[in-house]
Amino acid sequence: MAVLVTGGAGFIGSNFVLSWIAETGGAVVNLDKLTYAGNLENLQSLKNDPRHIFVKGDISDSELVHKLLSRYQPTAIVHFAAESHVDRSILGPEEFIATNVHGTFRLLEAARAYWGSLAGDRRGNFRFLHVSTDEVYGSLSAEDLPFTESTPYAPNSPYAASKAASDHLVRAYQHTYGLPTVTTNCSNNYGPYQFPEKLIPLMIVNAIRGKPLPVYGDGLNIRDWLHVGDHCAAIRAVLARGRIGETYNIGGNSEKSNLEVVRAVCEALDELHPDSPIMPHGSLISFVKDRPGHDRRYAIDASKIRQELGWTAKQSFATGIRETVKWCLDHLDWVQQVENGEYRKWIDENYGGRQTI
Ligand code: NAD
Ligand code: TYD
Repeated sequence: MAVLVTGGAGFIGSNFVLSWIAETGGAVVNLDKLTYAGNLENLQSLKNDPRHIFVKGDISDSELVHKLLSRYQPTAIVHFAAESHVDRSILGPEEFIATNVHGTFRLLEAARAYWGSLAGDRRGNFRFLHVSTDEVYGSLSAEDLPFTESTPYAPNSPYAASKAASDHLVRAYQHTYGLPTVTTNCSNNYGPYQFPEKLIPLMIVNAIRGKPLPVYGDGLNIRDWLHVGDHCAAIRAVLARGRIGETYNIGGNSEKSNLEVVRAVCEALDELHPDSPIMPHGSLISFVKDRPGHDRRYAIDASKIRQELGWTAKQSFATGIRETVKWCLDHLDWVQQVENGEYRKWIDENYGGRQTI
């Protein structure tokens, strides 16, 4: 019995695949297009594990998705695949619409046809879990209460708008066709294997290299940080016990300004990398022009998932950030392969334009 994971070579997807196999022993069919953000190095430890079936391909390729569903008969689809970086969505929104909106639509259509072909328990137990973000709710001011599942949608970036559109499609497929969907809206994640374009890994890698640490605007924008391992545990809980048609907010109850985050990274590096020629690492902080339309604050009220499913974040920000800095220092080969594009060469040599099924 397998689950179909989309985007399982990305940051959260690869953490999910690793933890799913470790925690449940179940198999994963991993469909990933291997964009710049997909990195099979993340899954190196599963290289000879028959429980991981990797397929290079696009969620928009209906023929391929139909073939995978009928061949592997998954019990669930866990949908991570997306363009995920706000700054890239500002520079070029097109891919965000293609994958996040149209790709999700195509995946829903394939899921609907597959689910319609199932009978009995297999039909009753099937789930389509859509992984989304808190950014669909827009920006909070300092006095506002955290986002709940009934906060109105108000996406502000092309990324957030494309995720909001996909959330609406998922909702409509449940409401109209009865497809057994659940949606999760999670806050900012950090942890191993995060591509160093996002705040935390970018700051760690730049600081190790002695490069400036670019803090947008006044550095007082707030995000609610969650360790990726806690996010994966929440997804497993929603998959097992979440109610069909519901949405669940997931957050770490750990609001920090960007400046606090960058300082925490620098302090961890001062401690864990004492031979660094740059000391203290905080001296590299440099304020740069703000991101256009930059949301001021995100914060999640995670009481629904806590009360209904008994999930809470286990990792504190203080220990999680230290662990993540240590992970980067211990995996400088991974960092280097991402920096010099070596991982792409490996992908081209092993997969090229060829689709593997
Ligand atoms: P990521 O950018 O690291 O990974 C995305 C993965 O999707 C990559 O492996 C990429 O190759 C793959 N992909 C992209 N387009 C594809 C397509 N058309 N077909 C198949 N595969 C495709 O993203 P992430 O940070 O791991 O985020 C995963 C999901 O979680 C996204 O849906 C994102 O919106 C959501 N999310 C992320 C965060 C966060 O802090 N990173 C927080 C909340 C929700
Ligand atoms: P990011 O990791 O891009 O996630 P998101 O925009 O989805 O929240 O950014 C997190 C915060 O860090 C956001 O407020 C923008 C800020 N930021 C910087 O100040 N400098 C940077 O170089 C980056 C990438 C982000």
